[in-house]
Amino acid sequence: MKILVATEKPFAKVAIDGIRNVIHEAGYELTLLEKYSDKSQLLEAVKDVNAIIIRSDIIDAEVMDTAPQLKIVVRAGAGFDNVDTAAATECDICVMNTPGQNSNAVAELALGMMVYAVRNFFNGTSGTELMGKKLGIHAYGNVGRNVARIAKGFGMEIYAYDTFCPKEVIEADGVTAVASAEELYTVSDVISLHIPATPETKNSINYELLNRMPKGGMLVNTARKEVVNEAELIKLMADRTDFKYISDIMPAAHAELTEKYPNRYFSTPKNWGAQKAEANINAGIAAARQIVAYFKEGDEKFRVNK
Ligand code: 3PG
Repeated sequence: MKILVATEKPFAKVAIDGIRNVIHEAGYELTLLEKYSDKSQLLEAVKDVNAIIIRSDIIDAEVMDTAPQLKIVVRAGAGFDNVDTAAATECDICVMNTPGQNSNAVAELALGMMVYAVRNFFNGTSGTELMGKKLGIHAYGNVGRNVARIAKGFGMEIYAYDTFCPKEVIEADGVTAVASAEELYTVSDVISLHIPATPETKNSINYELLNRMPKGGMLVNTARKEVVNEAELIKLMADRTDFKYISDIMPAAHAELTEKYPNRYFSTPKNWGAQKAEANINAGIAAARQIVAYFKEGDEKFRVNK
């Protein structure tokens, strides 16, 4: 079996060492395509592989058509919106993610960015604390739960809304479950966004929702840029001079926002939430183990396509 790790944004070396051990122990071969800059390199690398481990790398129908031996793609991470799951099903390719493995890394960054923002990006003016502020967690999955756990340590008052997670599960963590996204945005000084990018959620964070936030409101996005309606966000930033947008996924209008609102807007260069050794090790090794379990035992526990 030939397993390819194709990561435009590479894993830490220690994670690659761990992945290699798992693959070699199973008697399989590992090949690496890291930091590639062109899709043609990916197309060349997948030609004879049976399995691929990826991060935010795009696996579309063309990639799958170029890989006749491909049986499984594992997204080492949570969001699998970068994989054409319908095309995978057509090609009889199993797609998996590794839920929960990099959640703490993303949650730590969300809180870190909140601290940076309430300290006014260290611009010399006097900022505020997070203690006593109302935090709204939008979607209470693996990352949302970790955000709640850490935010408790900051002494924040925590609210959450999730379409799928039962109220009892949220409240068992000492978090107040609210009945709608509208209510969450109305009560929260800070919103931490953790919804996946799906046809239903794309552009769903719009002017109407954001404008419900109290004076001094802040949106922290460590989810996906597609879920925020960027045109409406730009309008809100212009209308609400108190509003801050902090993101781990650079919006298309990054240059404009940086120039206009240096004290109210910040984005990391490139989806940095999971870029930590621990997250790389957890997600990378889990992906390798899932591939081995799939081939050796037919284990499809983490399959995301039908
Ligand atoms: C995820 O969906 O797991 C995160 O967005 C991390 O993505 P990355 O592996 O590209 O850093």
